[in-house]
Amino acid sequence: MLIIGIESSCDDTSVALVECSDKGHFVIAEKTASQIDIHAKYGGVVPEIAGRMHAEKIVPLIEEVLKNQKNPDAIAVTSGPGLITGLIVGAEAARALSYAKKIPLIAVNHLEGHIHSVEIPSTIIFPALALIVSGGHTEIVLMRDHGDYEILGKTKDDAAGECFDKVAKILGLPYPGGPQISKLAETGNTKAINFPRPMLDQENFDFSFAGLKTSALYWLRDNKLDKKITINDFCASVEEAIIDVLVAKTRLAAAAHNPKTIILAGGVAANKKLRETFQKTFSATTLLVPSIQYCMDNAAMIAIAGYYKAMDNQYTDWRELEVDPNLNLE
Ligand code: KG4
Ligand code: ZN
Repeated sequence: MLIIGIESSCDDTSVALVECSDKGHFVIAEKTASQIDIHAKYGGVVPEIAGRMHAEKIVPLIEEVLKNQKNPDAIAVTSGPGLITGLIVGAEAARALSYAKKIPLIAVNHLEGHIHSVEIPSTIIFPALALIVSGGHTEIVLMRDHGDYEILGKTKDDAAGECFDKVAKILGLPYPGGPQISKLAETGNTKAINFPRPMLDQENFDFSFAGLKTSALYWLRDNKLDKKITINDFCASVEEAIIDVLVAKTRLAAAAHNPKTIILAGGVAANKKLRETFQKTFSATTLLVPSIQYCMDNAAMIAIAGYYKAMDNQYTDWRELEVDPNLNLE
C-alpha cells in the first residue's frame, strides 16, 4: 500500500512516500525542510514563525515527493499533539489533497509515529514497551498491538529533551541544546557534579525533569566552571542524571510487564550515551532504536503508523479532519 505521510507538528515540514506492507516498509521518497536555523536565533521554536514556514514549504514538498510517482492509496497526516500553527498547515494540505485527488485520509498521533519509526526496517513484536523521549514528550507506553496503547507513565513537568534544551540555554549554547550537551559531555566526567535523579526512588513510571534543570541553574549561580570542573564535566553530569532516570524507569516498567520488544524513540533517542546504555541494560530483550535520521520528526514514521490504521479501516473523511495540540495516545 502506497502511503504519503505529512508531518508539521513542530519545526520540521516533512513529506514522505512509503510503500507499506506486512512484510515491511520501504521509503520511496522523503523531503524534509528544517526550520532549526531560523528558530535558533530566538533560542527555541516560535509558533507564529513555524506556522508561516510550514505554509511556505508544504505544497512544494508534496509536489516534489509525488513527482513521477503513481497516486498514493492513502494520506497519513499528523493531527496532534504539537503546535497548533503547524498542525493546521499539515491538516489543510492533507485535506485539500484528499479532496482533489480522491485519496482517503488517515489522522495519525505524532507519538504513534515516533513509536513506528523503529519499523524502518525492523518489526515490532508484541507486547512492546516504548520509551518516547522528545522535546515535548517523555512517556512510557505499553503496546499490546498496533493501535493498542496504555500510557504507564509520563513526565509531570518538563520533557527530557526540554531539560537538555533548557540547560543548554542556561549555558548559552544554541538551540536545540540536546546535541550540543551530548557533544560536550563526550569528554566530560559524569561524576563531577551529583545532580538529583528526580523520582528515581518512587515505584511508578512517571518522570519529572524541572527540578533537575533548576539544580543545574543553582549550581551555576553558586559555582564557577573552571579547570577543576569544566563545561564538559557539567554537561556529562547533567546527561548522566537524565539517562539514569530514563533507564531506571524503563527497567522498572520492563520488569513489571515483560515485553517482547523494547522501543526507544523520539528526538532524544539520537543521544549516543542513551542508546549505548539501553543496549547494555536491555541486552536480553529485543531492543529497537531508529537510525538517527528517524529519531527526529519525519513523515515516513507518520506514513507507517497510518498504514496500520488503514489496515484497521480507521479513515477520516476530509470534511471531518480535526487537529488537537493536546491529542492523547490512549
Ligand atoms: O522528536 P523531536 O525531533 O521533536 C519533538 O517532537 O519534540 O525531538 C527534538 C528534541 C530536542 O529537545 C533536542 O534537543 C533533542 O530532541 N535531541 C537530543 C539529541 N538530539 C536531539 N537530546 C539529547 N541528545 C541528542 N543527541
Ligand atoms: Zn517528535
